Amino acid sequence: MEHTWSIVLAAGSGSRFGGNKQLAMLGHQRVVEWSVDVARSCSEGVILVINPESIEETADLNVDVVVFGGDTRSESVRNGLGALPDAVTVVVIHDAARPGASTALYQSVIEAVKAGADAAVPGLAVTDTLKQVKDGPGGKEVTLTVDRDTIMAIQTPQAFDRKMLEAAHIDTREATDDAGLIEAIGGTVKVVPGDVSAIKITTQSDLAIAAELMGLNK
Ligand code: CTP
Ligand code: MG
Repeated sequence: MEHTWSIVLAAGSGSRFGGNKQLAMLGHQRVVEWSVDVARSCSEGVILVINPESIEETADLNVDVVVFGGDTRSESVRNGLGALPDAVTVVVIHDAARPGASTALYQSVIEAVKAGADAAVPGLAVTDTLKQVKDGPGGKEVTLTVDRDTIMAIQTPQAFDRKMLEAAHIDTREATDDAGLIEAIGGTVKVVPGDVSAIKITTQSDLAIAAELMGLNK
């Protein structure tokens, strides 16, 4: 019997946003509430990872466990993993900064792991031309154009076989997402169709874009 729990990451510093983006209002509720609500509806339990400064402001959220984050995203994930009950077999890692992730997106990554993948991630085709660059005397210079067909933009929620995710996180490894750590230990990472609405709020202007994509301006 599979048991699925989610870890919602809200312990970043929001340096590009200029504050705690998870606590910003988006429609009638805060960014983190959207993220926790979807995680709750798709899993048996939810672990919220926060900064100690946010403990009072997040006390009302409907989660099972609250843990404090670390200096890096990977460290925050490890702190969340440490709070998982023994019976959990499938773990979903989600950026609280992606309030528009849908239940359908959660379900598709969870289903892919239940079907046998070590990990499953949402991917979107990239539409801009991608170029590799280097620092030159007067600024950046192009070194080559990347084949766009071999590249996808990867989002969260990302689902994992619990044992693989724990194995990938040994030795205090670091990556910008957890699938990157699975790749490093030779695991299989399946890509499911992503969703533009699951945009990550990085800067202030992303709040308005998220509201539009989530249909909150109607
Ligand atoms: N995160 C975390 N712990 C960290 C760093 C990031 O829990 N030490 C979380 C963030 O809260 C966010 C997600 O990981 O939900 C993705 O990170 P990012 O968008 O980079 O958020 P921040 O690190 O907060 O933003 P910035 O990089 O602009 O400082
Ligand atoms: Mg960051």
